[in-house]
Order: sequence, then structure tokens, then C-alpha cells
Amino acid sequence: MAVLAPSILSADFARLGAEIKEVEAGGAALVHVDVMDGHFVPNLTLGPAVTRAVRKVTQLPLDCHLMVERPDRVFPAFVEAGADMVSVHVEADVHLHRTVQAIRAAGAKAGVVLNPATPLSTLEEILPAVDYVLLMSVNPGFGGQALIPSVLGKARRLREWIDRLGLTVRIEIDGGVDLDNLVEVAETGVDVIVAGSAVFGSGDPRATAARMVRALAEVAERGARRT
Ligand code: DX5
Ligand code: ZN
Repeated sequence: MAVLAPSILSADFARLGAEIKEVEAGGAALVHVDVMDGHFVPNLTLGPAVTRAVRKVTQLPLDCHLMVERPDRVFPAFVEAGADMVSVHVEADVHLHRTVQAIRAAGAKAGVVLNPATPLSTLEEILPAVDYVLLMSVNPGFGGQALIPSVLGKARRLREWIDRLGLTVRIEIDGGVDLDNLVEVAETGVDVIVAGSAVFGSGDPRATAARMVRALAEVAERGARRT
């Protein structure tokens, strides 16, 4: 079954602890932490200090998505702050294999991220060396954008590729997922689904997370009945 990773980018930062407790109660499996540097993407968000504060309020794994230039310089501060998973963009790192190895050596799961226009072929050499691949379904930088539909085909192709090789690499998808397209997204075979504005902008993050988790369970049940 695919799991839900609410992105705190769309949470009320003045009530961050309470907001995280809400989605935890709603069945979230991970907390997605969007780190932006104002260079790789045109926005600035949060850093290790907020990550450390989040670490104190939840037992859920923290999934840090680094939208930064030179992520190799920055990631250790996030692992130290309590990140369990760290992903870096293939577009931002010329020594990707080294960075992935370093993230794992620091004790976190390592992921690589592809922007919507970056082809799956860029994964050819790195795929067996990572714990997960994050497919962006919007251009990174902001919450609340519409999902780019062509990424669903990309997710299906990646699922087939990973299964064909017999790898355990997980697929995560991030951007523009809401209650209307959630089932379609889950049916591509992804393992982790990020949702920010759909959850925290809903007025009731706990109930919305719970509805999403229920829908994901139904997709998994239907899949199991078919096989
Ligand atoms: C976009 C971020 C996403 C974003 C998701 O740059 O990486 O995680 O916050 O937000 P929604 O679900 O609102 O697209
Ligand atoms: Zn993200």
C-alpha cells in the first residue's frame, strides 16, 4: 500500500507541532520537509533548526527534500537534526553517487529527485545505489500547484523498471496531489505520496489525511484482489 507523507510547507508554521500531531492522528506515515535555498528554486523555506524542532514533536520518519544547490555541503546538518531520509536533485549535484553514499554513511536513507522535465534515463547508473526515487509532479519551488499529468506515465515506467530489475527502491511522488487525483496517482504503483496544500489547506488536516489514507488502502485492496 502507498503511504501518505504530508508536506509541512503548507502547514501553519506558528502551530507546526499541533499540525503535525493532527496528520499523525490521521494516519500519515512520514513527515515531508521541503528545504529551499532561493537559488536552485525561487523560494526560501526552512533549515536544520526547524527540522530539529519537528524531530522533537513526532516519532514519524522525517523525509527531507533538499531543493538546494550543492546538497553535498548541506545534507549533514539535516541528518544531524534528525532527518531519516534525505533526497537530492539530480539536477543539482554533479557528484551524485558520492553524495548518495555519504548520505547513507551518515545513517539516513538516500533518495534522488527528478524534476518533471528530467528523463528517467538519468537514473540509469544510480538506481541500484539509492533507497528511493522522488518524482516531482510539479516544478519545485511552491506548494499548491497543479499536478503535471505526464508524470503519471513516468511513474508507471519507473515502477516497471524497478520491478524488472528486482530492486527494492521505493518511488515517491511530490506535487499537486489532492483528493480528486489521489487514486489515479496511487494506481501508478508509487510507494509514497506527498501532499501539502490538499492536507494542510483543507481546514481539517486530520480528517483529510485520514480520508487519503483510506483511499490508498482501498486502491491496495483492489490491487490485491486482482492478483
Ligand atoms: C514543491 C514541494 C512539494 C510541495 C507539495 O516544491 O517539493 O513538496 O510542497 O505541495 P502541494 O501538495 O501543495 O503541491
Ligand atoms: Zn517536496
